[in-house]
Amino acid sequence: MDLFHIQGGRPLSGTVTVSGSKNAALPMLAATLLTAEPCILENVPRLSDISSMIEILEFLGAEVTWLAEETLEVQCKQISSLAPYELVRRMRASICVLGPLVGRLRQAKVSLPGGCVFGQRPIDLHLKGLVKLGCQWHMEGGYMVVDAEKLRGGAVFLGGPQGSTVTGSTNIITAAVMAEGVTRIECAACEPEVVDLCHMLVAMGAHIDGIGSSILTIRGVPSLHGCRHRIIPDRIEAGTWLMAAPLTGGTLTVQGACIEHLGAVLDRLDEAGVTLEVLDAQTIRSKRSPQGLKTIQATTFPYPGFPTDLQAQLTTLLTAAQGISIITERIYHQRFMHVPELQRMGADVRIEGSSAIVHGGRPLCGAPVMSSDLRASVSLVLAALAAQGESFVQRIYHLDRGYAFLDLKLQAMGAQIQRLDASVLKM
Ligand code: EPZ
Repeated sequence: MDLFHIQGGRPLSGTVTVSGSKNAALPMLAATLLTAEPCILENVPRLSDISSMIEILEFLGAEVTWLAEETLEVQCKQISSLAPYELVRRMRASICVLGPLVGRLRQAKVSLPGGCVFGQRPIDLHLKGLVKLGCQWHMEGGYMVVDAEKLRGGAVFLGGPQGSTVTGSTNIITAAVMAEGVTRIECAACEPEVVDLCHMLVAMGAHIDGIGSSILTIRGVPSLHGCRHRIIPDRIEAGTWLMAAPLTGGTLTVQGACIEHLGAVLDRLDEAGVTLEVLDAQTIRSKRSPQGLKTIQATTFPYPGFPTDLQAQLTTLLTAAQGISIITERIYHQRFMHVPELQRMGADVRIEGSSAIVHGGRPLCGAPVMSSDLRASVSLVLAALAAQGESFVQRIYHLDRGYAFLDLKLQAMGAQIQRLDASVLKM
């Protein structure tokens, strides 16, 4: 099992290019199940989660070929409807195959994905939506068995206690595009990743109105054809770099991003004393303002609010702002696995309810820390880069799920970071 050995205290500077969005690529890979024709996806990030989804697609019968470093061709001529536990359990996003299987085959048998370290990850809204489209479902040995005599358009409401559901929306959309009749989805997720999926589906011949809004009207079609589609940049990776520069006292030019997806992030960083210079629609420069970082309050919300996937990274940034900052988590109330590890590095952060109270200003000290989930892990890497002394970030397989070539990108920015086998350090 690998770990990162990091010597902190060096400013990160230079230029970094953002990879394609993991959370856009995963539902789009699943959507290739909807047609027997080849689909070509460009700007596919080289991540272990992508490899996991490819394994599931191949198990279902897809032919998958890398045409170039980040270009994938997927063809699903004949597919089966069983997504097995040993593949699905690795990644929650495997649930994204549910909608396309129902859309193409009118049936699906998908292992329940299981929870994750930051709490419950229910799929009640996914199932409620599929029932509205004429599906029936039952549990069988840890599998969800869904089938529809007739997949018909219907009225679907996807609002839950924490707002809409991203993968729930992708599942209902990918089923509805092949249903008979018209489907109206209210409280659909508006995340850019859902919008990008809709654009891909339209390129495949789907009829979707209201793309980008929370109300979608979908007129089902009997079949869809192949397409070529370029995946949007990863806004969470972009936001991570925009925080890494001011945290370490460097200047980073982030290119290949999509600035319009970063409104809430730029707002909070601006208020936190980060100097942000937008050079064009894909390029932005970030550094600490001359007055230094300032305390803020931030709350995570569904898009276009501040993304929960950047909450841990923002917590780390605010350990460098003198005074009290408050970050409130409205999507996953227990998403604070990074906090005890940050405390080991000397951060003064405590949890009150679903808020992290950060008393910033004290320098962090390097330490051995443990990754727990993808975004918590990268917040620990950021902390280690800012800390005085050396750190060992363990279980970095979490990071390989969502950050392509992280150590190489950081080395190019001047970071002293090495990927080591944990056995080397007898840890
Ligand atoms: C997607 O997860 C992302 N994953 C997550 O990113 C992201 O944190 C999350 O959306 C929120 O933005 C992918 O896109 C692959 P949800 P998803 O369904 O779809 C509740 C990362 O690090 N809910 O939008 O699983 C749920 O408990 C990952 O890249 C229900 O109550 O999230 C949560 O509180 C982590 N019932 C809220 O809604 C349901 O049926 C949002 O969940 C579904 C969800």
